[in-house]
Amino acid sequence: MANTLFRTVARLTSFPVRVLIRPHRRLHAALWNVQYALGLWRYLDEMSDGAMPLSLIETWARQPAILDLGCGTSANLPLDAGRYRHYHGVDLSQRAIETARALGRPNTSFEVADIRSYRSARRYDAILLREVIYYLSPAESAALLRRLPTMLTDRGRIVVQIYDVARAAAFVEVIRDCGLPLVAELPVRLDDGPAGAFFVLTGPVPSAVRPEPDVPTTGRR
Ligand SMILES: C[S@@+](CC[C@H](N)C(=O)[O-])C[C@H]1O[C@@H](n2cnc3c(N)ncnc32)[C@H](O)[C@@H]1O
Repeated sequence: MANTLFRTVARLTSFPVRVLIRPHRRLHAALWNVQYALGLWRYLDEMSDGAMPLSLIETWARQPAILDLGCGTSANLPLDAGRYRHYHGVDLSQRAIETARALGRPNTSFEVADIRSYRSARRYDAILLREVIYYLSPAESAALLRRLPTMLTDRGRIVVQIYDVARAAAFVEVIRDCGLPLVAELPVRLDDGPAGAFFVLTGPVPSAVRPEPDVPTTGRR
């Protein structure tokens, strides 16, 4: 019930928030901090769907290194010891990151940062964007997706989770048209919720290896 009310309020305020607040990083971060302080996102911590991204990642990488962009508190991810090599969570909300750190899970690290400009020299087997892409503009999310391959290992993939595919149609288009190969689109529906999906992207396919030029045959063999 509280959930439904929150989703309705979020829907009604989304336009003014997008136009007036999101362009200002500190204001935007403050808004997320207030929401976490009020406990508006606490229900996410109990969501059982956090197991899905990890099972999915294990289909291409055992004991992966994971980068989670817009990680929130990360509490809904079952980061059991031995199941991953390292997990790094990034979020705009200091409050969410404090909660995440307090969980004290091994081989985890966290950082407060804006994913719209986030860069890292480290490489990951999986980069997660769970329920976060629609807090960016379509142009920002396209730019972010195109930048991520520099942070992927050779086997690495990007996983974008969308709760309501119909409502996020503009972002589904961005994912499909961003220029990165879409290797899987897995439908998911949580309880009686709308149709959602996981989108799995890889880095760009290296351009076909050009054949060696013919060596001119000069002189005698
Ligand atoms: C709906 S919550 C999802 C949290 C988590 N990924 C999950 O699925 O449980 C969206 C999260 O995205 C974060 N966020 C939104 N815009 C962001 C930005 N530009 N940079 C970093 N984090 C951002 C918010 O602070 C919030 O924690």
